[in-house]
Amino acid sequence: MTVRHFLTLRDLTPAELSHIIDRAIELKALHRQGAAGEPFKNKVLGMIFEKSSTRTRVSFEAGMAQLGGSALFLSPRDTQLGRGEPIEDSSRVLSRMVDIMMIRTFEHEKIERFAQFSKVPVINALTDDYHPCQLLADIQTYVEHRGSPKGKTVAWVGDGNNMCHSYINAAALCDFKLNIACPEGFDPNAQLVAENADRVSVTRDPREAVKDADWIVTDVWASMGQEEEQKEREDKFAGYQVNHDMMTLAHSDALFMHCLPAHRGEEVSAELLEDDSISVVWDEAENRLHAQKALMEFLLLNN
Ligand code: CP
Ligand code: NVA
Repeated sequence: MTVRHFLTLRDLTPAELSHIIDRAIELKALHRQGAAGEPFKNKVLGMIFEKSSTRTRVSFEAGMAQLGGSALFLSPRDTQLGRGEPIEDSSRVLSRMVDIMMIRTFEHEKIERFAQFSKVPVINALTDDYHPCQLLADIQTYVEHRGSPKGKTVAWVGDGNNMCHSYINAAALCDFKLNIACPEGFDPNAQLVAENADRVSVTRDPREAVKDADWIVTDVWASMGQEEEQKEREDKFAGYQVNHDMMTLAHSDALFMHCLPAHRGEEVSAELLEDDSISVVWDEAENRLHAQKALMEFLLLNN
């Protein structure tokens, strides 16, 4: 049987995505009751991190431990990957030793090559182009607070980055409309936008994007690897801050999400981020744990 990977959301059908979200909600309840059991007993997750992480590392590592398995943190600083061992060789070796792999890296093409040579499922834990695990948590959070996102309007305000690309994929799978507002020069991938033109639009005006939206999302203006562009981006993204004033244009029950870490006073105001009546960022962060357990269960036990 061919191994299933999770490199982008498009590796799932809408029905599979919906199953994973429902199961994540179930696993969250079981976790709270202390009744989730040990379905991952003797299973080992290998985790390669070529970029920093708090949420992703801890949610995968804790998730594995809570379900009876274990996780190995592999940094390029102290593995042969960092000394130039080819990704294809690393994949063939590691996938003979562990049951499932998770990778956070720069070029998306690198994780595709790793997956091509892997005997076990490979999960994308963020590349320069996509962050699909975060979308599992975001969708779960929307469903828990407001029900199905089908037919809703989502506004993405900010950089056309990895998170934005994953929102485009989510729009197609969950059947919602996505209004993207970004400054010129920071557009999402044109081909991805064109392929989803029936539901995805790009504007320069954040207020237009947010008007009548049900779910507003932003992310840092400078992603990991773009630190030297921080100052230039602060100038170019002025006017793109999501704050209470901008939220007044959205539906009155609209939710605010941010994958975190957040830069208060830049892409989001401190007041909005801390406003629990609109901002669900802490639930969103917690749901990384539950959603990834459901994902690993799907990849490990259904494969
Ligand atoms: N949102 C997210 O992926 O956070 P980390 O970079 O802390 O893993
Ligand atoms: N776009 C951000 C997301 C961090 C979770 C980055 O790539 O740094």
